Amino acid sequence: MATEVHMHGRIGESIKRKEDGRFLRGKGNYLDDIDLPAMLHMVILRSPHAHARVKSVDTAAASAMPGVIAVVTGELMAQHKLAWMPTLSYDTQAVLATDKVRFQGQEVAAVVAETKAQAEDARDLIVVEYDVLPAVISPQQAKEAGAALIRDDKENQRDNHIYHWEAGDQATTQAAFAKADKVVRLHTFYPRCHPAPLETCGCIADVNGATGKATIYMTSQAPHAIRTVFALVTGLPEQNIRVISPDIGGGFGNKVPVYPGYVVATAASLLIGRPVKWVEDRNENLISTGFARDFHMTGDLALDKNGKMLALRVHLDSDNGAFFADAQPTKFKAGLFHIVTGSYDIPTAHVTADGYYTNKAPGGVAYRCSFRVTEASYLIERLVTNAAIELGMDQAEFRMKNFIQPEQFPYHSATGWEYDSGDYPRAMNVALEQLGYDEMRKDVEARRKKGEVTGIGIASFTEVVGAGHGAEYDILGLRMFDSAELRVHPTGKAMLRMGTKSQGQGHETTFAQIVTEELGIPAADVAVEEGDTDTAPYGLGTYASRSTAVAGAATAMVARKLRDKARKIASHLLEAAEEDLEWENGRFYVKGSTDRAKTIQEIAFAAYSNIPEGMEAGLEGVHYYDPPNMTFPFGTYAVVVDVDKGTGQVKVRRVVAVDDCGVRINPMIVEGQIHGGLAEGYGIAFMELITFDAEGNCIGSNFMEYLLPTAWETPRFELGETTTPSPHHPLGAKGVGESPTVGSPAAYVNAVMDALAPYGVTNIDMPVTSDKVWAALRAAGVTE
Ligand code: CDP
Repeated sequence: MATEVHMHGRIGESIKRKEDGRFLRGKGNYLDDIDLPAMLHMVILRSPHAHARVKSVDTAAASAMPGVIAVVTGELMAQHKLAWMPTLSYDTQAVLATDKVRFQGQEVAAVVAETKAQAEDARDLIVVEYDVLPAVISPQQAKEAGAALIRDDKENQRDNHIYHWEAGDQATTQAAFAKADKVVRLHTFYPRCHPAPLETCGCIADVNGATGKATIYMTSQAPHAIRTVFALVTGLPEQNIRVISPDIGGGFGNKVPVYPGYVVATAASLLIGRPVKWVEDRNENLISTGFARDFHMTGDLALDKNGKMLALRVHLDSDNGAFFADAQPTKFKAGLFHIVTGSYDIPTAHVTADGYYTNKAPGGVAYRCSFRVTEASYLIERLVTNAAIELGMDQAEFRMKNFIQPEQFPYHSATGWEYDSGDYPRAMNVALEQLGYDEMRKDVEARRKKGEVTGIGIASFTEVVGAGHGAEYDILGLRMFDSAELRVHPTGKAMLRMGTKSQGQGHETTFAQIVTEELGIPAADVAVEEGDTDTAPYGLGTYASRSTAVAGAATAMVARKLRDKARKIASHLLEAAEEDLEWENGRFYVKGSTDRAKTIQEIAFAAYSNIPEGMEAGLEGVHYYDPPNMTFPFGTYAVVVDVDKGTGQVKVRRVVAVDDCGVRINPMIVEGQIHGGLAEGYGIAFMELITFDAEGNCIGSNFMEYLLPTAWETPRFELGETTTPSPHHPLGAKGVGESPTVGSPAAYVNAVMDALAPYGVTNIDMPVTSDKVWAALRAAGVTE
């Protein structure tokens, strides 16, 4: 009869991460751990110039080197119609250069050899003759009359402009501005930065000449989408392509695009008939793979005399690099930037965006961000703080006055969003209380009287995560749904496979917890597998914090399907009508007779041994979930800083971060996500800088110059939470992974701007380094 039920790992429990057993023991299986028999190694020769015509490529000396199997050039790739490939934004990108190089670090040739060292030695002997051309390194330069034409490979391309895109309503916005008592403007630049995952990008292509099967091990956040793109690019039948994403050491958006190295390694394996491994080094990762941001933004906020927001007008110029390779939903050229009205009830808004080619590596990946939401959040939160300072109003009070109110949800924003749920005043109040805001403000005033430079910054961000729904959101026409397949074995243990792919976010734990909650099988008994396109159901992958919102929902739905079947089996086993059964804690019992029960484990066994007449055997299913809407997580971050007047050094004294991501599946994992994102936000706000000199040389191509925060620099974080469930997600959950990276840079910078407000400083673009702060203080006449 009814056995004991044990449902360890339900939603809301901070169980330890299942995957950490292997990671902590150094037993993860990353791409570079994989060694196949007869495997060759490939390295890539990259352009030293940002813009140059390729006159000739001489491979004779390299080809003669010991161990070298092949030297691949653009010309050779062109013979196989593979010198160019499509990007995820309907542009084309050079695989290996044939006509010109268009950014420093662009792929020019590749060497395949028995060992990596042999390939590297041979690479040094390839002789490329270049005719150097003037480099274009900013959108401002790109639009100048007479600017060098970067994409002369494209038939109808006469200038460096890629796209123009608009959202909102120009006429009503103009009318609102005409009536405004005050307009506050902020022009700011969100600089180019790099996701810089610990593990760089790479692949092993293994094309079997006998079967025609191409198995490609790859550091990909979206293995199924890559399989489809590969089938389209190479012409290989899709069933003969197997993409396997093994353990991944961080992605943050860097591992979404298709990189030329993947295509060259696959072509080389196909032609040579042996597996080919390509793993880029740190420098290659930093100079050539998906950069993020690089948005030049101007925001105007129209206000009435009481400080009520009337309208928002935004223009941005996006620096997309040499190829438009962003992964954006097809309809949205500037990504989801039009969430720029943020947490505020702004009656009307108008957003215009223009994208430009420059001689830089293709940019625009959503670094821990849903397609440009980070830039939008930064702009509105910086603008709001500046407006409060200009109005002489308290930053918190000004926000409170203009927040969308809880009773306004579902809220229709001026740029076309339907926000699912939110309670912004509550999140702000929790943060202010946790910080001790009123006391802290008094303390700031007292310190200022003593000549100290100190300030408080607030950011009350709203973002949008969980793309689709599929009718609105697609990449290359592939609708943004996601999937889960659940198989319960006769002994009551289960296997869950999904179309997403963890890069360290703990999916093996949290998605098992969803099965525990919905089907009663303990999390320890649910194996979660992602990343193998031969076994996992089709999905669009993990980026933009979409896994919980979409694949998490798919998991709940498939578990519910199985529970429905389990009910039928229980009814058969208990000889009771289905309607007379209650479900509780992993078992069905007969109403009014709680000891007449069958656990899910007993039912699972029966599914293979004792099913009712006419029922299919087994307990398994699949669900493809197309969400009805995005989810809109939010929060308030408050930061206190002290600035050293003598050196301009900024010291972060307090960081309070209150997040609302709806129902939390595993609170510990959520907190880990927030800690990581706040650290990344700190790096972006204060340290990380990838820039280019006038010739287009990339400055910031190694970790000596591109400074990531370590535990030494990273401040202490004080977390808080509120819970406002998503009304349309089956578990009430919203995504969280990117929230802290999206929300925190503005909070850090706002704190510095608050500190510098008495000196009339209104903006310093990120990274807010000591030299910039020092110069701003000196310009304001501070001499100490
Ligand atoms: O797509 P990605 O996994 O990067 O982001 P996410 O869906 O925000 O999830 C990050 C991690 O936090 C996953 O392990 C989630 O299951 C977990 N999470 C959670 O436990 N509760 C939430 N409400 C949101 C995420």
